[in-house]
Amino acid sequence: MDTSSHIDHFDEPVAATYDADEASMFAPGVLGPTVDVLAGLARAGSAEQPSALEFAIGTGRVAVPLLKAGVAVDGIDLSQAMLDRLRAKSGTESIRTVTGSFTTADLGAKYDLVYLVFNTIGNVTTQDGQVECFANAARHLKPGGHFVVENIVPRLRHLTPGSNEIVFHASDDHVGVDVYTDLVNQQAVSRHFFAEGEPDVFRHGETPFRYTWPSELDLMARLAGMDLVDRWADWDKTPFSGESGSHVSVWQLGGSS
Ligand SMILES: C[S@@+](CC[C@H](N)C(=O)[O-])C[C@H]1O[C@@H](n2cnc3c(N)ncnc32)[C@H](O)[C@@H]1O
Repeated sequence: MDTSSHIDHFDEPVAATYDADEASMFAPGVLGPTVDVLAGLARAGSAEQPSALEFAIGTGRVAVPLLKAGVAVDGIDLSQAMLDRLRAKSGTESIRTVTGSFTTADLGAKYDLVYLVFNTIGNVTTQDGQVECFANAARHLKPGGHFVVENIVPRLRHLTPGSNEIVFHASDDHVGVDVYTDLVNQQAVSRHFFAEGEPDVFRHGETPFRYTWPSELDLMARLAGMDLVDRWADWDKTPFSGESGSHVSVWQLGGSS
């Protein structure tokens, strides 16, 4: 079993400030298109109640508005502290959650859609673990169902010679740096510095990740019996190109009738 999938980097202190730290990711301009794409795919699979399973549901940033859009949502997350934050939100009683890794946890149900957003496939830091993630998605899909992953494209092109660091965000209250620590084993770390409200006081947090090219994920999907049906640069369905910094990929499980 892949043990890297079981390290909780989102425990109590991180969970306590997650929604505030990621406020920009809760903006209607971000969540609106995300929910439109996911709800459309969930509805494509079912004439009755569309259903979705979120891998790494967290505090429900996406799951809560998707539920409001009429999709029955369940979720898996490693962090009990993140799930407690989800539970504290009104209207979330119908969401069934399991505390565990999305590489192995089994809800014993099939869904029209499984999705894993916000670069979280990378939190599984081995290839074996990421392969298990795709297999677990397929295990939870109805025939013809869709698996969606949102992930960054590795920023290796942006490294200056001799450097292994990229500043991916710099604002008054947040600086984010990706450090590419091992180019052989595709390992990196995201380092975050959040302003604490007092001058020159920053809170530091970091999350290791395994970066992948989209084509490697396509192979993992094929191993799990799924084929690529769409790839965009973002949730607005901007065409994916060699310049894209991220991708939203959609694979379909075979066996649609
Ligand atoms: C950046 S947050 C994203 C949460 C939510 N999907 C969102 O978009 O706001 C990453 C989440 O992934 C969870 N996570 C990381 N690795 C996991 C794994 N192997 N299995 C289940 N959850 C995992 C963390 O606990 C955390 O809640």
